[in-house]
Formats: sequence, C-alpha cells, structure tokens
Amino acid sequence: ASNNAAAQKRQAAEAALGFVEDGMVVGVGTGSTVAFFIDALAGIRHRIRGAVSSSERSAQLLRERGIEVFDLNSAGPLPLYVDGADECDPQRRLIKGGGGALTGEKIIAEASRTFVCIIDESKEVDVLGRFPLPIEVIPMARSLVGREIVKRGGQPVWREGTVTDYGNWIIDVHGWRITDPVALERELNQIPGIVTVGLFARRPADVVLVGNRRR
Ligand code: A5P
Repeated sequence: ASNNAAAQKRQAAEAALGFVEDGMVVGVGTGSTVAFFIDALAGIRHRIRGAVSSSERSAQLLRERGIEVFDLNSAGPLPLYVDGADECDPQRRLIKGGGGALTGEKIIAEASRTFVCIIDESKEVDVLGRFPLPIEVIPMARSLVGREIVKRGGQPVWREGTVTDYGNWIIDVHGWRITDPVALERELNQIPGIVTVGLFARRPADVVLVGNRRR
C-alpha cells in the first residue's frame, strides 16, 4: 500500500507540471509529495523564473536542483502554488502542517491565485480530523492554547523538540471531528498565541490531484 502511495504522489506531482507556465515564479510547498514535484520542476527549470518556498527544507531542495528561490516580498502575488496535504475533504478543504511548515504554507497559499494540491488517495476523508490538527503557537502560549483546546473537546499533544522556521512550537490536536472547518479555523485564529491553524478551509485548494485523478 505504501508503494502505491509513493507512486500516486509521483503521478500527482508530475500532473501538477501541467499548471506551470513559462516565465512563472512558482510557489512550492513542503513534504515527500512536493519532493517529487521539485524533481519534476527541475526538468523544466530553464522555462521558469524560479520559485518561492514555504520552508527552509524545500528552499534547499530547490537550490540543489538549480532553481532560483525568491523572497515572497519581492516576488509579489504568485500565479500558482503547488503543495501536498495531510487530509483533504470533499470540498477541497485541507489539514496541513504534518511536516511543520504550516505558516509559510498558509502565507503562500493566500498569496497565490491557484492552489494545486497533490496527494495520494490515503489523504481523502469525508470529515477532517482523523489526522491530528497541527497548530503553531508562540512558545509562551503553549499551555494557554492547550487549555483552550481541551475546553473545546480536543486532546492537545505538544510536538516536543520541534521548532518551526519561525522559532515557534507545534501542538497536534487529536480527537476532533471537524464538521465545520471554516468556523473552527476562524474561532482558533482568535486565540492569542496561536500563529497558524493547520486548517486550509477559508482558502481551500482550487484543484486537487489524487494520483492521476483531478478533482
Ligand atoms: C507540511 O507542513 C505539510 O503540510 C505537508 O503538505 C504534508 O505533511 C504532506 O506531506 P507528504 O507529502 O510528505 O505526505
């Protein structure tokens, strides 16, 4: 099954190349599926201007493959963002942040006209929340945010030892069945100390590629 997942990730990554146009600066996400996309992008690197990366990890991969990495502030609005996800519901709303890069991912998603999400079929769910929801927090707010999550019926687990690119910490929330992800995203974003909620519901993916299948 995991072999099949890898094959589907590669198929989706290669299909995403179909959205890349000449001269583009491409927004690039993070993770094992995106690693296949970066490999594919390297094959057409002379046709694009470069990339904006959601993480240090992807920036390094891009540079190793000869793709110039731009700062989002100088790149302006992006035409295209390609990234993986941890879960995807029927409305193309996502849980992301399993790889810890959710803040850069959310910023680039917001800055991009078209968000193409590349996944294998194991990521498809009817209701989000089987995958623990990542939340990036300012370190001093960890306990406060944890209590707010418990009040709302979730089980917060501190991803101890993980420090984000921005010096923050991550809490993974178990036990939530997220039937209204737009409302939950909005509500959590009000809690002081939360930097980024790993729900991409207010700004879902525009296109989801599941292996060779397009949704
Ligand atoms: C990174 O922070 C995540 O949002 C990734 O998009 C997600 O974890 C998918 O990773 P894989 O492509 O490795 O499954």
